[in-house]
Amino acid sequence: MIWRRNIVSNEKSNPTSDKNYPEVSPAEAKVLKFLALKLNGNKSLSEDEIALTDLNEREISSAVSWLEKKQLINVEKKEHFTYALTDEGERFLKSGLPEERAFDIAAHSGTISPADIMKTLGPKDGKIALAQLAKLGMKPVGGFIVVKGNESAREVFSNRRVFLSGLPGSAFSEPELLEHFRKREDIIAEKKRTERVVSITGLGMELAKKATTEDLISEITPEILQAGSWKGKNFRRYDINAPVERINSAVFHPLTFLIDKVRRIFLDMGFTEMAGHYIEYAGWNMDSLFIPQDHPAREMQDTFYLDSDKEIPFEDQEVLKVFKEVHEKGIENYTGWGYKWDLEKAKQLVLRTHTTVSTIRYLYKHKESPQAAFSVEKVFRHESVDWKHLAELHQIEGTYYAKDANLSTLFWLMKEFYGRLGFHDLKFVPSYYPYTEPSLDVVVKINGKEMELGGSGVFRPEVTRPLGLKEPVVAWGLGLERLAMIYYGFEDIREIYRTDIDWLRKFPLKF
Ligand code: PHE
Repeated sequence: MIWRRNIVSNEKSNPTSDKNYPEVSPAEAKVLKFLALKLNGNKSLSEDEIALTDLNEREISSAVSWLEKKQLINVEKKEHFTYALTDEGERFLKSGLPEERAFDIAAHSGTISPADIMKTLGPKDGKIALAQLAKLGMKPVGGFIVVKGNESAREVFSNRRVFLSGLPGSAFSEPELLEHFRKREDIIAEKKRTERVVSITGLGMELAKKATTEDLISEITPEILQAGSWKGKNFRRYDINAPVERINSAVFHPLTFLIDKVRRIFLDMGFTEMAGHYIEYAGWNMDSLFIPQDHPAREMQDTFYLDSDKEIPFEDQEVLKVFKEVHEKGIENYTGWGYKWDLEKAKQLVLRTHTTVSTIRYLYKHKESPQAAFSVEKVFRHESVDWKHLAELHQIEGTYYAKDANLSTLFWLMKEFYGRLGFHDLKFVPSYYPYTEPSLDVVVKINGKEMELGGSGVFRPEVTRPLGLKEPVVAWGLGLERLAMIYYGFEDIREIYRTDIDWLRKFPLKF
């Protein structure tokens, strides 16, 4: 890197500036030189063997860690286990292992009852003795344990004793006994020690020749300035390329990031952001959009209804009459659905199934054209979740209401929006929604695959005219999570809601 050399200007304190060597402290330089002297090629030595008169163990250890980070040495960790007697182990060694004691007591009569063992050795050691004797083939038969004829056990006991008194050395010469005692409770304790075995890299070997062990001033203190002791000394350079730990500052969740990006695009295009509510009247969520009351999407297997004893009065009685009129009788030149409209059904509360309810509410309040509004908000559907479907999802909703609004405007808006996200290959597929005519589904083509992103269309006059909207309205409702799938390349829509913090930290957001 060129800029690095420019920053390094003090040649005298920087004997290594001819190549991009990492900066090393005097202590690191000492350790490095020591290693270079002792090792060549592929040899290695233990950190414990690094002996330098003016560095203590801790300083050496820290230098080794830094040299490793700077790739001047390689460090291999070797684990060593040592074994020592616990307090209980000491006791057994002194007074004999319980199994041996029990055997000795029984030896003169040849048999012993378990009860006698428990009584003589006490419940704790007694239990151990019984278990160990059983393992050696001396199980109680007819209320007695026979030790006679089992004299060979004496050798086992003696080996065990020798093993315990020979620790820690015996642990390595007697692997079977080590296994035996490791399985027994609280006789030997295992201690782990990690040894660091160090070898020097090619780069380390080169730098060892050049690095300075001179004590450089690394901090300018008032004392140094007052005494003028800095004169004639060299200063330690800043190593701006020194490896540092990655700091995990707060990061956006990929979905939050994408929501923001979408909002930014519509705001940049001059749209106003709309806000709505999770809980809606079926009247606004459906009836206002000319969705007939017997439409299958209104059924419980598609829509979450709220079970509430408390009636929450519909805020606008007038608009309910409008819905009834349109559904039953239609408007001029349009027949309506011609069924008996039920007020109760309109008053039901639902978790909104789409954010088109925000659009229609917004337009009802803002009847003067033009209007351009959008939202990115959550909707709920009684849907079984799979790789492509969620029951809770976000919709990118939007509407453009103007004299000149038409299908071309809609095409253009969609192309512009997705184009700004980097998707340029769109397809519009004829579709059906009760509130739009024509209706079109928006499909994005990417890497030879197609992803259906949502619906759009021009609102039918049965929707707009009764609410006093005089100009054409184009509208769309697009899936945010589906977009996230293609934007981030997820194979499964559920990936987006991962909460694994390590995954989130490493997630590459596309700024
Ligand atoms: N509301 C529709 C849906 O939930 C999408 C849509 C919005 C369709 C606006 C047409 C117009 O999928």
